[in-house]
Amino acid sequence: MSEQPGMPSTPAGAAVTDLPQPGRVEPVVARTREELHVARRALTDGDVAVVMTMGALHEGHATLIETARQRAAHVVVTIFLNPLQFGPREDLSRYPRTFDSDMEICRRAGVDLVFAPTPDVIYRDGDPGVRISAGPLGNVLEGQARPGHFDGMLTVVAKLFHLTRADSAYFGQKDAQQLLLIRRMVRDLDFPVRVVSVPTVREADGLAMSSRNTYLTDSDRETALCLSQALRAGAAAAAEGPSAIRRAARTVLVREPLALIDYLVLVHPYTLEDVPEWYRGEALLAVAGRVGTTRLIDNLPIKVGPGGGALEVFTDVDSAGV
Ligand code: PAJ
Repeated sequence: MSEQPGMPSTPAGAAVTDLPQPGRVEPVVARTREELHVARRALTDGDVAVVMTMGALHEGHATLIETARQRAAHVVVTIFLNPLQFGPREDLSRYPRTFDSDMEICRRAGVDLVFAPTPDVIYRDGDPGVRISAGPLGNVLEGQARPGHFDGMLTVVAKLFHLTRADSAYFGQKDAQQLLLIRRMVRDLDFPVRVVSVPTVREADGLAMSSRNTYLTDSDRETALCLSQALRAGAAAAAEGPSAIRRAARTVLVREPLALIDYLVLVHPYTLEDVPEWYRGEALLAVAGRVGTTRLIDNLPIKVGPGGGALEVFTDVDSAGV
């Protein structure tokens, strides 16, 4: 019998319990372009979905993977901490690295292939001279706080689309501006891939799950709750229009002086421009701020106007192909 790539043969005398259990098929791990190419070529019977991550996987990532698993024949997960999207004063060096528990999540979720390259595999010639430009949408909100972040993010996402040759890709609503920019890149540059949005996964108390939550002390974590609470308060005022939504959200935030708010905005989901007072329809209520040493972001898609309220994801987006 020929050996499966990434599936080590069992050494003589290994306990039966060391063998892969039924329903827990070991994902193939590819570290190099060549290993990825060989493993990807084996995924022939059906479509391939990709879930791109920077590792430190949590329940939010697991939900992306499970959603992909339900809809596609094969799931590829990429784990790559992309230096190109971190600024010089950002948290690249302290970003959590948890490969073993990441693999356990992938195993449990039935991932076929994990691509976990090092930076020199992705950036063969050092920092790339040619990059994807996010354009004007990359300079506002998160882009204003993190110059160059979205160019670096789109550059690696484009490369991972090419390397994995995925038919579809699953991204979290948690990073709303990232998701919008990836949709724009796919549409503006004709990438042959279907982008699917997955709703934000939250802790029981409302805190949006994030790899960066591990930086929070117990009291930071209490403070951080004001972000999701503000969004919920905003959504509860959705029927009354934009200024009522902004006011309700701001009222929650000002009660928590330990959260240093960078922005709280109600913007159009495609242009990211503030919606005017007469606006009715889908809008993005987004917040960012620093709690302790940690920058956190959160958002809620909202339907503004009569019968309005929070949405899981934008309902217009997939059908509009944006
Ligand atoms: P990372 O922060 O690891 O997130 C990987 C994916 O998981 C993204 O699509 C993100 O939106 C999604 N995600 C994170 N937290 C989530 C939550 N609480 N609920 C739902 N989805 C969640 O985003 C990146 O990595 C990188 O920028 C990347 C796209 C991999 C490019 O480097």
